[in-house]
Amino acid sequence: MLLDLIEKRKSVREYLEKDIPKEDLKKILKAGYLAPSWMNSQPWKFILVKNPETKTLLSQLSGNQPHVKNANALIVCIADKKGWSKEEFGKVLAARGIGESGREKIFNIPMFYPPLLGEDKVLLRTVEQVTYAVSYMMLEAKDLGIDSCIIGAISNEATVRNEELMKKVNEVLNLDENEVIITMITLGYAKEETPTNKIRKDFNEIVHFERKGNKIDF
Ligand SMILES: Cc1cc2nc3c(=O)[nH]c(=O)nc-3n(C[C@H](O)[C@H](O)[C@H](O)COP(=O)(O)O)c2cc1C
Repeated sequence: MLLDLIEKRKSVREYLEKDIPKEDLKKILKAGYLAPSWMNSQPWKFILVKNPETKTLLSQLSGNQPHVKNANALIVCIADKKGWSKEEFGKVLAARGIGESGREKIFNIPMFYPPLLGEDKVLLRTVEQVTYAVSYMMLEAKDLGIDSCIIGAISNEATVRNEELMKKVNEVLNLDENEVIITMITLGYAKEETPTNKIRKDFNEIVHFERKGNKIDF
């Protein structure tokens, strides 16, 4: 059951020195590739990183978090703001069978076309899409017996900017200024089996029935 897997998944920050098979890495990436996105916009790129020097650089980007360096592999998850350009977004709309006049209509509706609402909204909407793919990849990894941790504490457009480091990372990963690293997923096999310790707010504080304040009583 998927819920069992979700309950078992936890953030793992210490890994064995054991290689993840390539086929498994590909399956994890495929899970992200197949994730849903708004109008199928797919404004993302996922870069698999195995190179130790690149991992060290990315660890620096995360404020030197050791698990970024020590993970067997990393998936760098990138919000690609170009995904909303008329050209790129137009292509995915056309692939859905939306003709030229339909596409032009969409490009003029702020609800459907974030660039009409400004830069911040474009980033917000792009990040929104990437997070679904991240969840898919983490769960596929867990299903393959591979542990992970999301790394969101990184220098990027949404947090603090370390321009020099970001420039270096962009060069190494071959990213342009529209491609923003949102998250990295560390991947590896847990060094030790620790109990799944789900510290969460009270279920009824978060989940409601029909209207906020009504408990789910089933
Ligand atoms: C968006 C996001 C960013 C995160 N950033 C980091 C991070 O930079 N470093 C880290 O060690 N864990 C990070 N985490 C992991 C959380 O601390 C962890 O998911 C949370 O404490 C719940 O624990 P669990 O994943 O074991 O259930 C992040 C999680 C999310 C969803």
